[in-house]
Amino acid sequence: MADWDTIWINTSLATMAVTGNSYGQVKNGAIAIKNSRIAWIGLMETLPKKPEALASNVIDATGKWITPGLIDCHTHLVFGGSRVGEFEQRLQGASYEEISRNGGGIVSTMAATRNASEDELIKAGIPRLSNLIREGCTTVEIKSGYGLETSAELKQLFAARALGATLPVNVQTTFLGAHALPPEFKGRQGDYIEKVIEEMIPAVAENGAADAVDAFCENIGFTAAETEGVFKAAQAHGLPVKLHAEQLSDQGGAALAARFGAMSADHLEFISEDGVRAMAAAGTVAVLLPGAFYTLRETQLPPIDLFRKHGVDIAIASDFNPGSSPMPSLLLMLNMSCTMFRMTPEEALAGATRNAARALGVDADRGTLEVGKLADLAVWNIEQPAELSYWAAYNPLDMLIQGGTVVDFEKELTLPGVMA
Ligand code: NIG
Ligand code: FE
Repeated sequence: MADWDTIWINTSLATMAVTGNSYGQVKNGAIAIKNSRIAWIGLMETLPKKPEALASNVIDATGKWITPGLIDCHTHLVFGGSRVGEFEQRLQGASYEEISRNGGGIVSTMAATRNASEDELIKAGIPRLSNLIREGCTTVEIKSGYGLETSAELKQLFAARALGATLPVNVQTTFLGAHALPPEFKGRQGDYIEKVIEEMIPAVAENGAADAVDAFCENIGFTAAETEGVFKAAQAHGLPVKLHAEQLSDQGGAALAARFGAMSADHLEFISEDGVRAMAAAGTVAVLLPGAFYTLRETQLPPIDLFRKHGVDIAIASDFNPGSSPMPSLLLMLNMSCTMFRMTPEEALAGATRNAARALGVDADRGTLEVGKLADLAVWNIEQPAELSYWAAYNPLDMLIQGGTVVDFEKELTLPGVMA
């Protein structure tokens, strides 16, 4: 009997493991899987026997590259309605902050999300998540934060979990109750935070609805002190934390997140060098979101050189949401992070694989091609891995393997409500 289930041969691998060579690459190599995990990786010439003697299924991948399945580590993919009207307002000169202060923004999506049933949220989420899967994503994080009351927050998180159970993708969920102040708490921000701490986090933890807790620390969001209260409650319930920090102004959020051992701090255009140092010391990943930077026409770049200088790992994510990043495409983010943020294509790919896995705390099982990890693989029709950042609005994915099983796009993504 063959040792392995499947082996891909005559291929190039960008393992993204830290091996000292670029992309952790193995050229003219092979990768074998058994029982949903990677069983062997190496050069063709070091295969112990003929491939047919080693695996029941042999796939010749001549001319292709195999990378880890991509990981989108920051999305707000479950929401009701859209914000196309605000898009048009911004084109007329209104700013994101003005729209938010005038009762639009996150709160308008809150209303549409509260009005939607869990089934409606799932149905709306299927084509969005399918779009990410079609581009090679095998893990996607989904946040709540458009319910802003216990039952509606739980509904969003349950919808996110249901999406993960329905589609061939691993979904990690994050509770973001401290995203915006719901109108019924106007003038009582402290009371709302108390509700997040006393009622929502315990309910989320009790239901096992979230894998992490996030907050929006910003002048149009919550203060550092309020964020700290949320973090303490999260930790008391055994949930790791992450933070929307320094997106529009420097609130010291990244340093606060680092103090709580946060898995990531996200956005970070306005972070100070002290904030970067604190992240480096804590091993907190910097998640950069070029879709929001582009959509809001930001001009202050995140300080990539400081992250490099202090050794902070950088991840890249879509931040897919109806307001500041209406773009469910991680490949587009790879291109934007190079063109706009001047990251290298290798940094960008590490940002959507190895470092994204760290930002979600799933790096023991995912994010690189290494023996023992889950077999989440993306097979690409490209000649060099830098092409994943080079092409834009073009998808060179050839095949996707989720937990050792080849994804059948026709069958598995052609569900009711899925765009053909
Ligand atoms: O990551 N910054 C806060 N949250 C989202 C935007 C959500 C929205 O506008 O609906 C973000 O950009
Ligand atoms: Fe976000």
